[in-house]
Amino acid sequence: MRGDLSSVLFTEQEIQARVRELAARIDQDYADKSVLLVGILNGAVMMMADVSRAMRIHCEMDWMAISSYGSGVASSGVVRILKDMNTSVVDRHVLIVEDIVDTGLTLSYLVENLRSRNPASIEICAGFRKPEAVAARHVEVKYLGFDIPSDFVVGYGLDYAGRYRNLTGLGILDPKVYS
Ligand code: IMP
Repeated sequence: MRGDLSSVLFTEQEIQARVRELAARIDQDYADKSVLLVGILNGAVMMMADVSRAMRIHCEMDWMAISSYGSGVASSGVVRILKDMNTSVVDRHVLIVEDIVDTGLTLSYLVENLRSRNPASIEICAGFRKPEAVAARHVEVKYLGFDIPSDFVVGYGLDYAGRYRNLTGLGILDPKVYS
């Protein structure tokens, strides 16, 4: 897989160190609350597994699977829920765990959807964020791993055509792979 990357942005060690910092902040902020982590399938599986295991406080976990309508390349912001949570979020402290925020449209739709179900609070934890999301400000990511360039990246749960999710670091996919 390494040969398909034009560069490595973050090694496994760098990501794990940052994840531990995020988990420590989450531990502090939710010390006296019961937090419900909601992972967005499939990309957030690695982030969810690592953040939750680096936490020292109790948490519950649930999952949603969503798909964006649109061309497949650009996010349309209209999201279809393929799998909903099993848990009710009413009066719960919800922390959405996502792999990457590109435009932020997917997450902003999801936040609005979950907010309408009356949680006690709702925040976002994401591994990576692209400049587009910073500019558009559709959502605020309280617990962010890293800001990255707008290139197409793979690894740490992020795929290209279903592959590369099991790459432990994060890298820019060499355009030769998809051109
Ligand atoms: P947004 O609605 O534009 O923020 O799109 C977010 C979703 O697009 C993420 O959950 C990913 O599934 C996907 N995505 C965005 N950028 C990348 C990338 O560089 N590599 C792989 N998937 C990406």
